[in-house]
Amino acid sequence: NFQKYTTSLNIPFRIPSKCSNLERRGGPALRLEQRVAGGVGCVVWDAALVLAKFLETGACPLARRHVLELGAGTGAVGIMAATLGANVTVTDLEELQELLMVNIENNKHLVTGSVRAKVLKWGEDVTEFQPPPDYILMADCIYYEESLEPLLKTLKDLTGPDTCVLCCYEQRTMGKNPEIERKYFELLQTNFELEKIPLDKHDEEYRSEDIHIVNIHRKQANFPS
Ligand SMILES: C[S@@+](CC[C@H](N)C(=O)[O-])C[C@H]1O[C@@H](n2cnc3c(N)ncnc32)[C@H](O)[C@@H]1O
Repeated sequence: NFQKYTTSLNIPFRIPSKCSNLERRGGPALRLEQRVAGGVGCVVWDAALVLAKFLETGACPLARRHVLELGAGTGAVGIMAATLGANVTVTDLEELQELLMVNIENNKHLVTGSVRAKVLKWGEDVTEFQPPPDYILMADCIYYEESLEPLLKTLKDLTGPDTCVLCCYEQRTMGKNPEIERKYFELLQTNFELEKIPLDKHDEEYRSEDIHIVNIHRKQANFPS
């Protein structure tokens, strides 16, 4: 039941047939295919809607910037960035590549930068994604404990002194979620500085008290000279 993914935002984003539309300020909506069956990456999560629409506010300059999205799922966030002029690589596990490519193809006429899909499994070698991008985007990627250390390794390996990581997540209160979130931010603060983007800077409609966007930078002292 897709509706459970949209409880925080209260914005109808369902699966009428196979495609859903994500409206854009600057023109026609993004057409995003989702899958009823498959892993968690097969649907657009609320955090992705919030981050994609935040990018549209223009708070972060994206034109001609290099952008890498981690755990991209359907690619909603990265594809939105590409319509704003960024050169984007959307990444996820092998099993999401086909869906990412379908969504890139569906929206290629709206892209003013560029966008491609690649496999990137957290914790593994990231040499092919160097040099460090200007932005790393992550929506709803903090949700299981085993992934925390590999994800942090990937962030450390990919960030340079000027890389801005925008991490959007839904604060969940059930089960292990609060503990996973606490541990992630505790580990992250060893190497990174965090700054929460206030809710009044989010898109006016696509915002929710329990969905946060954090701007993350690598601590300069942690860089080898
Ligand atoms: C909750 S979904 C979020 C998808 C999308 N960002 C969104 O918000 O709609 C988490 C995503 O992380 C990806 N993921 C999980 N573990 C991963 C790993 N070890 N390496 C790379 N991607 C991973 C999943 O395949 C999935 O697409």
